Amino acid sequence: MSKPKVFVTRAIPEKGIEIIKDFCDVEVWQAELPPSRAELLRQVRGVDGLLSLLTDKIDSEVMDEAGPQLQVISNLAVGFDNIDVQAATARKIPVGNTPDVLTDATADFAFALMMAVARRIPEAEHYVREGRWKTWGPMTLLGVDLNGATLGLVGFGRIGKAMAHRASGFDMRVIYYDPNEQESDSTMKATKADFETLLRESDFISLHTPLTLDTRHLIGSSAFSKMKPSAVLVNTARGPIVDMAALYQALKVNRIFGAGLDVTDPEPLPMDSPLLTLDNIVIVPHIASASKATREKMSWMAAQNLIAGLKGEPLPNCVNPQAYSQK
Ligand code: GLV
Repeated sequence: MSKPKVFVTRAIPEKGIEIIKDFCDVEVWQAELPPSRAELLRQVRGVDGLLSLLTDKIDSEVMDEAGPQLQVISNLAVGFDNIDVQAATARKIPVGNTPDVLTDATADFAFALMMAVARRIPEAEHYVREGRWKTWGPMTLLGVDLNGATLGLVGFGRIGKAMAHRASGFDMRVIYYDPNEQESDSTMKATKADFETLLRESDFISLHTPLTLDTRHLIGSSAFSKMKPSAVLVNTARGPIVDMAALYQALKVNRIFGAGLDVTDPEPLPMDSPLLTLDNIVIVPHIASASKATREKMSWMAAQNLIAGLKGEPLPNCVNPQAYSQK
């Protein structure tokens, strides 16, 4: 019997590829950059399974170009805003993602960004490299404290809760805003707040919500106008949750103390972005889950989702279980 045909849109850690190779006839896109739209459409033709990345826009055109035999789309990410899930559900195609395994790595990184901005670590490092370190200065590179500060979490899912857990070690007060919370977790030392209260009372605001129509530009000029002038904003979720033009204005006039971005809008951030002219922002290239162990686990999990879909079994992590009720 011939093996199912699969396209993997980039080289991913070997752990997942090995599993896929055992079961499938696999084509892996080896270039550093993602396939262009034309290449993607060409490569998916006739595949039974697709393993995509958050850099690939997987919409109805891609699904139709693949053909009616397409049985599963497995995304190597917890977020899946790059996929038209409705279009997949309408075609009875289950979509998989990789939650849980990246929760700790992402929360660690969000915390690291928070500290980097608060204590101005990248700025201080440049200061040394540029030969500006002449003496110890009582007023040099003063930052803001985490200890005793209020951390406002926008989104209180897995990663938001992992942030709250870390914050307790820094004696932070934690408040959160999450309109989608099913039931509050009484074991967590975190208090639910409305959005306005969170903006007003937080010293640090960290975003952990998916990108949806409701959260696009959730943090814009109106939100910045309500934040403390000493506030630090951290985004490890999705770039478009923050209005980048409004962020630039807020940082330029020191409306807030600083920001740390793991994600931007667009990605990559163009080199002529005015944000790159500012000292009070730390920008890194979407690497919050980028630890070796975590990426291996993601690769393994994405492979498990892919194989399950190809076998006609329920995906271990499926974002659209409604696809099954369509069958
Ligand atoms: C990364 O951004 C992910 O969604 O896994």
